[in-house]
Order: sequence, then C-alpha cells, then structure tokens
Amino acid sequence: MYTRLKTELELLKKESMLRSLAPVTSIEGAMISLENGRKLHNLSSNDYLGLGADSLFQEAIKEQVQSYMLTGSTSSRLMAGNYPIFEELEAELARAFRQESALTFVSGYHMNLGIIGALANSQTLILADKLIHASMLDGLRLHNCKFERFRHNDLAHLERLIQKYYTGYSEIVVMVESIYSMDGDKANLQALVKLKKKYPKLMLYVDEAHAIGVRGATGLGLAEEEGLIKDIDFLLGTFGKALASQGGYLICKQVVKDYLINHCRSLIFSTAMPPIRAYYNLIVFKQMRAMTKEREHLNSMSERIRKELKQLGWETTSQSHILPIIIGSAEDTMLYVQALKEMGLYTLAVRPPTVAQGKCRIRLSLTFTSPEDLIISSIRQIKKLSPHKNISNLNTLNKAIKH
Ligand SMILES: Cc1ncc(COP(=O)(O)O)c(C=O)c1O
Repeated sequence: MYTRLKTELELLKKESMLRSLAPVTSIEGAMISLENGRKLHNLSSNDYLGLGADSLFQEAIKEQVQSYMLTGSTSSRLMAGNYPIFEELEAELARAFRQESALTFVSGYHMNLGIIGALANSQTLILADKLIHASMLDGLRLHNCKFERFRHNDLAHLERLIQKYYTGYSEIVVMVESIYSMDGDKANLQALVKLKKKYPKLMLYVDEAHAIGVRGATGLGLAEEEGLIKDIDFLLGTFGKALASQGGYLICKQVVKDYLINHCRSLIFSTAMPPIRAYYNLIVFKQMRAMTKEREHLNSMSERIRKELKQLGWETTSQSHILPIIIGSAEDTMLYVQALKEMGLYTLAVRPPTVAQGKCRIRLSLTFTSPEDLIISSIRQIKKLSPHKNISNLNTLNKAIKH
C-alpha cells in the first residue's frame, strides 16, 4: 500500500494537483506569516468580518469567556453533555431568526452529514444543486438517500425534475447553498420559494455558511436580505466562517429538532461542542448582528473589485465577497497564485476535485480588512500576463510581472 500511495502522490505532484498543509506560523491582524517569515495579506480566509483577526475583540472576548472554563463537554448531548449553555445558544438563535427552534452541531460538516439522512425515508427525494458543498453530498451518499442533481442554479432544469418525479414521492427536498463557496454566486431564493408555493410537496434546505454575518440587515444571511426566512424549511449555517469560531446550526420547526435528537447520528454519536465554545458562539453571534458598518464596507469593496475584474476581462462568477478568478489549468493557476504572492497577497489555487477539471481558479475571499487598492493593482498587473495561455514556467511569469 505504501508504494501505491507514494506513486499516486507523485502523480498528483506531476499534475500540479498535490495538496499540502501550508505552514502558517502565525496570523496577525489580516496578515498571514509564512514559514520563511514573509507576511502576506490573507485572501484565503473565511474570517469575513475580521473578527478572528481582531486582537482587541479577541482579548475582550477572552475576558468574557474566562468565566466559562469548561473546555470539554466530555460526552454527547444525548448522554451527559447537554449543558444549559447549549439551550441558551439555541434559544437565542431561534429568537433572532424568529422561528420555532434551533439545533447546534459540533461543526457545519457534522450538521450537513447528519440532518438530511435522518429526516429522509424511501418516500423522500432530494434534488440537489450540482455545486452543493461536499458535506451535503457526503450526507446524501452516507445515508443512501434518493437524490438527483440539477445543473447549477438552473431552475428550469430543477422544475423539469420536480415534474418528472412529483407523483412518485411524497416529499421533495431541494438542497442549495445561498452563496456558493467556490463560485461566489447566489441561489435564486425568491424563485425557489415561488416553486415551493407552486409544488406543495417541496421543501427547501438552504446552507448559508458563506452568507451568515455577511448578508441581511442584521447578518442573518441571504434569506434575511430577501425577507424569506419563514419560507425556508431548513435554514443552516456555520460558526466557522464570519463568526470566527466553530459549530453548525439549523433553524427549523420544533418537530424537526425533536426528530433529529432521536435520529441524527452525527449529533447523537459525537461529543458535544465544548461549553466554552458554545458560550463564545452566543457572544459572537450577538456581536455579529450589530456589525452593519463592517458588512456594508465588505459588500461595497466586493462590488468594486468585482467590477474591476469584469472590466479587465477576467472570468468570474461572483455575486458576493467571494471572487473566483477562473484560470483553467491547474498549472497556470499555480503560477498566478505565485505571482500574487510576490505582490503580497496570499491566495489559494482551487483545483479538482473541489472544482471541475479545466475550471481551476484563484479564489479571492474578501474580508472586512482586505487591502482593496492593493488587490485592484495586483489583478491589473497579472492581467497583463493573460491571455498568454502557454505560460510555461515561473521565470517567464516573474519576468513578465517585472517588465
Ligand atoms: C457551504 C458549506 N457548508 C458547510 C461547511 C462546513 O462547515 P464547517 O467548516 O463548520 O464544518 C462548509 C465549509 O467549508 C461550507 O462551505
């Protein structure tokens, strides 16, 4: 086995597809320090509101959470791990979203892995957008759910599938992300809600992992921005991105929560999140709702950079603070990433299997503290290199940058 693994890794390396754990020695403010001591602006983070990098905030919150020193829950919530802080956090979430109930999970991955498989039975069909996050797909596969995928954001295709299967199932759940993590585009929630009204068997499962904190008047996500919270049956998100923490949450009806407590294996068979983490989540969630200025700044900066990308002729699918620059081959993408590094920007290449072959991209993930002007000047500079599709090596690229 060792020889086979080694051979496969060597092949990945040859194809510029090898992943490794990049050595990050520290993160100070919005800067990331690499092993060689270089400090770069971090454009790969999901710390959209800058909370994780805000040392004052972190210091203040440390003082608050010190009163809550339980670092481990030491058992599942179904055993002896259901500390009052979990109930408090969930009550706050339900109150904020003005819905019946909320349920939290150790991570967004656990949440998506467990929920749909627990709820579905042989009469449930799931229609999933082609680009849903791996955690949802893993949940569908793990539980042998009946599912079909519709072309990304293609609601005409979705409706054809609904019509095809409508009489064969008693429940149809449509699974989408509100803002897609790799394309930065949005689901058309208004149109989805219209479909739900047209086809009463339809339910909506919307993952707001990349919209919580960023969209909506009080940061509750795209469903809040569009006034549709009450129309979404399963509204989910994570504490791991804009909230600079960890954990997942589901906003739902009480009956769904009760059912999941009895059937959701990723909730039942895993140690509950540490109480200190739940306490932090409660504080940061409340704090996030008031961060209107940060949200406005992030969204206007995103719009300016998006416009610039389009004017320069870069291909991007973005409708948000996530701005992919679609390059094509893995090799070219790696070279552009290296060029941006030279200019002081830390970005990551996104390659298969995360995205389709030939759709490799640089993903600019903007945060409140991103250096707007430097980003604009850098994307102008690297554009001078395209459409040189046959960039053959880094030296050529570096020479061209300096030229
Ligand atoms: C859309 C989406 N859902 C869920 C997750 C998983 O969340 P977590 O990182 O909290 O496990 C991610 C993380 O990348 C995501 O992008």
